Amino acid sequence: MIPSPSNRPQPEPENPGSGPREGHHPLMELRGWLARKHVPEHRHSLWYYFGGLTLFLLALMVASGLLLTLYYEPSAAPAVTSDGTPLAAARVLKGLDWGEHHYVAGDVIALPLNARTGEIIVPAGMKGAVETVKDGITGGVIRPSAAWVSVEGTIMRDVEFGPLVRSVHVYSANLLIATLLIHMFSAFFLRAYRRPRGLMWVTGFILLGLILGFAFTGYLLPWNTLAYFATRIGVSLPESSMPGIGPAAANALRGGTDVGDATLTRMYSAHVVALPMAAILFVILHLLFLQIFGLSIPIGARRRGGRGLAASLGGIAAAVLIAWPIAMGTFDPLAPPVLAAFVVLPVVIAYLLSGMAAPAVESPDGTSLGSIPFYSNFIYRDLLCWLVAFGIIVTLAIAVPWRGQNPGSMPVDLTRPLATPPGIHPEWYFMFAFQLLRAVPGTLAVICLILLGAGILAVPLLDRRAARGERSTAMTVLGIAVAVGLAGLTVWGYLSLATG
Ligand code: HEM
Repeated sequence: MIPSPSNRPQPEPENPGSGPREGHHPLMELRGWLARKHVPEHRHSLWYYFGGLTLFLLALMVASGLLLTLYYEPSAAPAVTSDGTPLAAARVLKGLDWGEHHYVAGDVIALPLNARTGEIIVPAGMKGAVETVKDGITGGVIRPSAAWVSVEGTIMRDVEFGPLVRSVHVYSANLLIATLLIHMFSAFFLRAYRRPRGLMWVTGFILLGLILGFAFTGYLLPWNTLAYFATRIGVSLPESSMPGIGPAAANALRGGTDVGDATLTRMYSAHVVALPMAAILFVILHLLFLQIFGLSIPIGARRRGGRGLAASLGGIAAAVLIAWPIAMGTFDPLAPPVLAAFVVLPVVIAYLLSGMAAPAVESPDGTSLGSIPFYSNFIYRDLLCWLVAFGIIVTLAIAVPWRGQNPGSMPVDLTRPLATPPGIHPEWYFMFAFQLLRAVPGTLAVICLILLGAGILAVPLLDRRAARGERSTAMTVLGIAVAVGLAGLTVWGYLSLATG
C-alpha cells in the first residue's frame, strides 16, 4: 500500500518529498500526487498484497476489539449477579431453549449459587437439564470469574451480535499472524530489505513482536483453563531458563509469583492500551518509510504477470481446503493448513479478478518491467483483496462461531487448588517455541529463540550482496532452513500432542 510516486522500475525511487507539480489547492495537489504514484508490476507483484492485507486485518482487529471492550470485564474475582448473589458453573446436559437462548449439551454456563446448600439455583425451565460443575480436586462448586462470565455469558449469549464480533476478532487475529508471516518471508525472499529499505525491515520486525504480544496478552483474557495454564507455562519460561533476570522478568509479567488477578490486569492493559499505541506508532513509521523509499523491485525480476504463480497457489489452497477436512474428519478453520489456505485464497482470487477488471498497462516490448497506477488500479486491487478476506472471515464467524476449545473453555476458579489439565498447548503460532522447549533443555531453547529473533532483525546487515543487486544463495538457503525449521517444529508439536 501507499508506495512512492517514484515507483516506476528505473531509475531507483527519487524522493517524493519534492512535492506535487500541478495545482496549488491541497485537493488538486493530492490528485496530482496520486496520479503520479505507480507500483511496479512484474511476476512477483502478487506478494505486494500481503502487507496491505495485514494492515486491513489489523484495522479489523482494532474495530472488533473496541466493541468487545464495551462488555469485557478484566477481573479474575468470582462473578456475582447485580444483586450480589454469587454465580457458579453449571453444565448443560441436553439441548434446551431458555429465554432467548439456545443451549446444547456440554455447554458450561453460570447460574446463581445457593450459598447455604452449596448447589446452583436452577430456573424452572431448566430443571433436569443442568448439573453443577464440581471441582475435580475438592469436589466443591466452581466459581467462574467476572472475566469468564463477561465473555462466555454476556458477549457470547446476551449481547446481540456478540458471538459474531468475538469470532471476527479471533479469526482476524489468526489470519493477521498468517498474513504477517507470509509478508515477512516474501519480503525476505524478494530481498526487499536491501538498501535503502533497512528501516522498513526493522520497523516490520518490531511490528511482528508487537503482534505476537497482542496474541499472547489476549489469550489470557477469557480466563478459561486453556488460557490460564498456557499463560502460566508461557510466563514461567524465562523464570526456569534464564538464571538471574529470568525470575524478575516473570514476576514483572505476572505482577506476583503466580498468574492471578494482577496478571489479568497487566495483560489487559498491555492488550488494549500499550500495545495498540506502540503498534499504531510503528505502522505509521513503516508506512512513512514505504512512502519515502517506495516498493522495491526484486533482483532479477523481469516480466509482469504472475498469473501462473497465482493460479497454482490458488489451486493448491483450494485442494488443501477440500482434502484436509476430509482426511481429518472434522472442519477446524484454525488448523494451520486450513488457515494458510484461507490466507492465500483471498489474495489469489482478488489478484486474478483485479487483473481482469483493472489490467496493467502493457509495456511495449512485453518483456521489460511495467508499472500500474497506484490510484486507482493498485488501490482497487488492494480493496478487492480486503473485501474477499472480510467475506471469508465473516462467513467463518457465522458458519463456525468461535467457541473456544472444550474442555479448555472451562472457567478457572482461583479460590481452589489448581492442577494443570492434560493437553494444554499454545496456539499454532507459538507451537514451534513450545515444541522446542519440550525437545531441548530450557536454557538452550531460550538461547535459540533469542538468536532467531536477533538473526531476523539483522537480516539487512547479514546480506551484504543484496545491496549490490546480487542474490546470495546462502541467504536463500538460510531463509528456507528457518521456514522449514519453524514449520517442522510446529508439525512435530501437533503430532506429539496427538500421540500424547
Ligand atoms: C502489522 C504489521 C505490518 C504491516 C501492517 C505492514 C504493512 C506493509 C505494507 C502495507 C507494505 C507495502 C505493501 C507490501 O509490500 O506488502 C509493506 C512493505 C514492507 N514490509 Fe511490512 N508490514 C508489517 C510487518 C512487516 C514485517 C514483520 C516485516 C519484516 C520483518 C515487514 C517488512 C516490510 C518490507 C521490507 C516492505 C517493503 C516491501 C517491498 O519493498 O517490496 N513488514 N508493509
